[in-house]
Amino acid sequence: MKRKHSLFLVPVLGLTMTLAACGDDSDSGSAEENGGGGGESAGRIGVILPDTESSVRWESADRPALEAAFEEAGVEYDIQNAEGDAERMTQIADTMIGNGATVLAIVSLDSESGAAIQEKAASQGVATIDYDRLTLGGSAEYYVSFDNTVVGELQGQGLADCLGDKKANIVYLNGSPTDNNATLFSEGAHSVLDEMDNYTVVGEQAVPDWDNEEAATIFQQLYTAANGKVDGVLAANDGLAGAAISILEGAGQAGKVPVTGQDATAEGLQNILAGTQCMTVYKSATQEAGALAEAAIALVNGEEAETTGTTEDTEGGRDVPSILLEPQSITKDNVGDVIEDGGANVEDVCTGEFADLCAEAGIS
Ligand code: BGC
Repeated sequence: MKRKHSLFLVPVLGLTMTLAACGDDSDSGSAEENGGGGGESAGRIGVILPDTESSVRWESADRPALEAAFEEAGVEYDIQNAEGDAERMTQIADTMIGNGATVLAIVSLDSESGAAIQEKAASQGVATIDYDRLTLGGSAEYYVSFDNTVVGELQGQGLADCLGDKKANIVYLNGSPTDNNATLFSEGAHSVLDEMDNYTVVGEQAVPDWDNEEAATIFQQLYTAANGKVDGVLAANDGLAGAAISILEGAGQAGKVPVTGQDATAEGLQNILAGTQCMTVYKSATQEAGALAEAAIALVNGEEAETTGTTEDTEGGRDVPSILLEPQSITKDNVGDVIEDGGANVEDVCTGEFADLCAEAGIS
C-alpha cells in the first residue's frame, strides 16, 4: 500500500465563504435559509453516514462536526444515515442526486455497493468523495480520512506499552471484513506487535459489520478456546473493546487484561479512567469533517483540493488523491486532551461513578 505518513494537518476550512448566521437541528441546511450564502459555491453536498451501531461516532461526533463545517462554509448540505443497509444507502444516494446534490460523500458499508453508488453518481455528473473508508474499486475524486495504518500502529504500540516486556498471549478482535479500514488497522497493529517475540497470538477474528453483540460472542469463543489464557486484547474500536471487557468482567479479569480501542467515545474514555481499557485512538471529527467540507467545496467550484498524498486502491488499481489526518493515542494520562479538543463532553464522560475518576485525572 502506497501511503504517505502525513504528519502535518491540512489547514481546514481556510475558506473565504460567508458564514451562516445560526445552526439548525435538522438533517439539512442551507446557508441562504440561515441568512448566509452568497459565497462562491452554489453546490449542494450530500453525505451518507453508514449506521448507528458500529460506532456511536457517526451520529454523536461526525454529524454535528459536518453540520458545523458546512454551516461555516456556507454551503447547502444534506446528511443522512444508511442504518447499516446498503440498499438504503443506494436509495438515499438516488434521492440526494434527484434533489440536486452536486457532490456526494459516502462512508461505504462495503466496497461493491459503494462503487456502484459512485459509478451511478458519476454517470449523472455528480462528483463523489470517500469519507473515512476507501471504496475499493470505486471512483471517488478524493479520499478524506485519517492515516488508518497509523491508527493500527498506535493500537499495537498502546497494547505493548500496557503489557510491557513479559510474555503475553494476545487476542485480536478486528473490524468488519467489508471495511477496508479494518484491514489497515489490523495490518498496522500486526506490524508493531509481530516484531516483538514475547507476544503470541492465541486468537484472531473479524467482527462482521463491527456488530458489538456478535463481538461479545466471538470474544467469548476465542477466550474459551484459549482456556482463558489471554493477557491482552487488540480490539479495533471502543465498541468492540466494550464487548471484550464485558466478557472479561464475567471472568473476573476486567482491569487485569489490557484492551485497546478507537474513537475516543464517552464509554471508551470512561473505561480508560476505570482501568478496564488501556487506550483508545482519538480522531478529531472536527478535523475530518472540515477536510471533507474543504474537498467538497473545491469540487463544487471546479478547483483542486489540497491533498496530503495518494492512497492506492488495490482493487481498482489507481491512486486516489487523499487528505489523511493524524490520529492521536489516548491513555489515562491524556483523556483530558480529548475533552479539551471538543472530541467528548465532560458531562457525558464524568457522570455518576466517573465523577471521582475525572476529578482524580484532573478533568473538570
Ligand atoms: C472507522 C472507525 C469506526 C468503525 C466502525 C471505521 O471505518 O474508521 O472510526 O469505529 O468504522 O464504525
